[in-house]
Amino acid sequence: MNIKDDIKAYNEVINAYLDKLLSEKDEDLTIITDSMSYSVKNGGKRIRPYLVLKFSELGGLDKFNEGALSFASALEMIHTSSLIHDDLPCMDNDDLRRGKPTNHKVYGDAVATLAGDALLIIAFEIVSDAAAPDKAKVKAAKALSVLAGWRGMIGGQIMDLQGEKRRLDDREFVKMNALKTGALLRSTARLGLAAAECDDKAICRDADEYCACIGRAFQIRDDILDVIADQAEFGKPVGSDAKNGKTTVLSYMSLDDAQALAAELTEKAVKAIEKYGDVGKELAEFADFLLNRRI
Ligand code: IPE
Ligand code: IPE
Ligand code: MG
Ligand code: MG
Ligand code: MG
Repeated sequence: MNIKDDIKAYNEVINAYLDKLLSEKDEDLTIITDSMSYSVKNGGKRIRPYLVLKFSELGGLDKFNEGALSFASALEMIHTSSLIHDDLPCMDNDDLRRGKPTNHKVYGDAVATLAGDALLIIAFEIVSDAAAPDKAKVKAAKALSVLAGWRGMIGGQIMDLQGEKRRLDDREFVKMNALKTGALLRSTARLGLAAAECDDKAICRDADEYCACIGRAFQIRDDILDVIADQAEFGKPVGSDAKNGKTTVLSYMSLDDAQALAAELTEKAVKAIEKYGDVGKELAEFADFLLNRRI
């Protein structure tokens, strides 16, 4: 299996599902549905939904199980909401996202804020409507609310803002990345395994370890790309972190050392998951793919 082909095949299914979920219209409210669709459709690597689907397979479901697809889409809505808010002038103040002008540049700050809110909330509607057992849906809603909320992604974004005013200490830095990026990545295993009603302790523990490690590595690579990427390819502004005086991995070490740290974390992720058959190997390959990503 070629990992790029595998990602592409999953993305086609995920994108079609996201389109379907965002197809409802109201002629008085086109501005909000247009704004939501603008950020969700046409772009995004879809790594979180890909992982949810893989974990649902690891838990024993068939490929592209409908309930797992709903959970995967709910997470992508929350992730996109976090990106819209992250780009606002009151946060990172960026103009480019997924190769296009950011949401607030097209729709204005007020509509962009509301589109982010609406995408956050629609996630819970999608989970409620999912073709999955009620117990799985409750688990998914709980995982998403904790990991996207103040103890998770939002908490991480708060620490990220604090990291503009002063350099965070080592403990704070690790926590910031674990929350702002790691939390939503950890939700992928929770959602996929919940959809499969898998509560095997060893699988849950190893999947969580894998996600925590790729979460840290992912943000480290993001911080590196913020310096070395080709902006046209990257699809977001290069130099955004320096512009905002952010605490990033490069506040502590060189580019080479940062990449070596990401490689070390990826290795740990691979070790945690590769023992789980074909899906475990695919997840291991995916972690390696993320380590050297250019976008
Ligand atoms: C960007 O996430 C935000 C970070 C956590 C670094 P992605 O790099 O997954 O963004 P998209 O979804 O592909 O645009
Ligand atoms: C993103 O961190 C974390 C989020 C929760 C969105 P960044 O601010 O580095 O993400 P990008 O680089 O803008 O995608
Ligand atoms: Mg940010
Ligand atoms: Mg940003
Ligand atoms: Mg960044």
